Amino acid sequence: MAERIASSNSLNSSFSPSAYRAPAVTRSTSLLLPRSSSLSPKCHLSASRSFVSPLSDRALNRASLKMSQQRRATGSTTVMCAASDPVQLKGAKEDIKELLKTTFSHPIMVRLGWHDAGTYDKNIEEWPQRGGANGSLRFEVELKHAANAGLVNALKLIQPIKDKYPGVTHADLFQLASAAAIEEAGGPKIPMKYGRVDVSGPEQCPPEGKLPDAGPPSPAQHLRDVFYRMGLNDKEIVALSGAHTLGRSRPERSGWGKPETKYTKDGPGAPGGQSWTVQWLKFDNSYFRDIKEKIDEDLLVLPTDAALFEDPSFKVYAEKYAEDQEAFFKDYAEAHAKLSNLGALFDPPEGISIDDEAKAPTPEPFVAAQYSSGEKELSNSMKQRLKAEYEAIGGSPDTPLKSNYFLNIMLVIAGLAILTSLLGN
Ligand code: HEM
Repeated sequence: MAERIASSNSLNSSFSPSAYRAPAVTRSTSLLLPRSSSLSPKCHLSASRSFVSPLSDRALNRASLKMSQQRRATGSTTVMCAASDPVQLKGAKEDIKELLKTTFSHPIMVRLGWHDAGTYDKNIEEWPQRGGANGSLRFEVELKHAANAGLVNALKLIQPIKDKYPGVTHADLFQLASAAAIEEAGGPKIPMKYGRVDVSGPEQCPPEGKLPDAGPPSPAQHLRDVFYRMGLNDKEIVALSGAHTLGRSRPERSGWGKPETKYTKDGPGAPGGQSWTVQWLKFDNSYFRDIKEKIDEDLLVLPTDAALFEDPSFKVYAEKYAEDQEAFFKDYAEAHAKLSNLGALFDPPEGISIDDEAKAPTPEPFVAAQYSSGEKELSNSMKQRLKAEYEAIGGSPDTPLKSNYFLNIMLVIAGLAILTSLLGN
């Protein structure tokens, strides 16, 4: 994005981004995929345990056992990785939620997921050359792209979770963190799937310049150039831009925004920067309402944000989302899930769901026809007969007979008389 300043990626000088490369190179105990090919990624099995988590030792052991079984089955000692392990994915999600609660890092996690996926080029077929959600953003060469300024801090926060759950790929962890952040900030549930395979080395990172610029000469055209390349449409561009309801822009990172405002000077998290919304840790439709009103100097509107209310096609959606939060949530959830899958190589190909409720069988709708004999209407002759019988006793098929108590009593007495005479005989 329009980072005017190719600033240093690290806020903490003692931290070296190259540390993120180390595990794949130095601590690699890998398995070979059955369908071993040039696509098979290397995954490492480091297992440092620095976080307290709800995932039990038994569950972790089961996951490690599964990996060693895979290794034995393939008869090889190199390479994993059938992508992520569902048990570990669930544990990682719980740990991410805890992390969000204590660090207020929702916005930067969303940006992390978006910047890993947003390099996708639909015109390139080969993986990983096509870019996308493949974990390449963990490598220093990509973290140093101007658009990614500051994202090293997100990696630093989730690295302990990655270490604890070696059976979760970086690509999955980035998307898991992003979707969890949206949900935890009050946003919609994102229909996610997992199983993304990681790229194995920095040489597989995309070239710089794939992400959008915040202040290009023709913002609307630029947004279309970039997002259409990813296979996304106008509605998805507008919905996804709504993620700016979270977070802040910092001049020392991107070159955009004020150093601080009344909404950011006290944090939470590291103070400073300029937010798009007043409650920048709450996911709602205030981004659209605030841009539309443009009344608060302390709130940020990038040229690409303003374009959403200027371009006639974008405007239809922006106006709708400003009015209708439910519509925004629905479209956002769909667009976010689509973004998170861009360019990804899934193993298994259909992906892994970690939502138990998603697995519950949907009850079949009741279809009356299934229980009918197939006979739709009475035949004409049957109708005639019924009509005649009704008329014989003074009624008609359309008007039910009125109750005649006297007649009923007479019928009962007659019945009893017949019965008595029969018994007498
Ligand atoms: C439409 C084109 C986009 C442009 C030009 C753009 C530009 C920017 C810029 C300049 C920043 C400030 C970065 C900083 O200084 O730290 C930013 C932050 C952010 N962006 Fe975007 N962005 C775009 C789309 C998106 C999308 C599609 C998402 C997610 C789906 C997203 C999520 C975020 C979030 C959550 C932040 C706040 C990060 C934080 O507070 O640390 N952006 N964006």
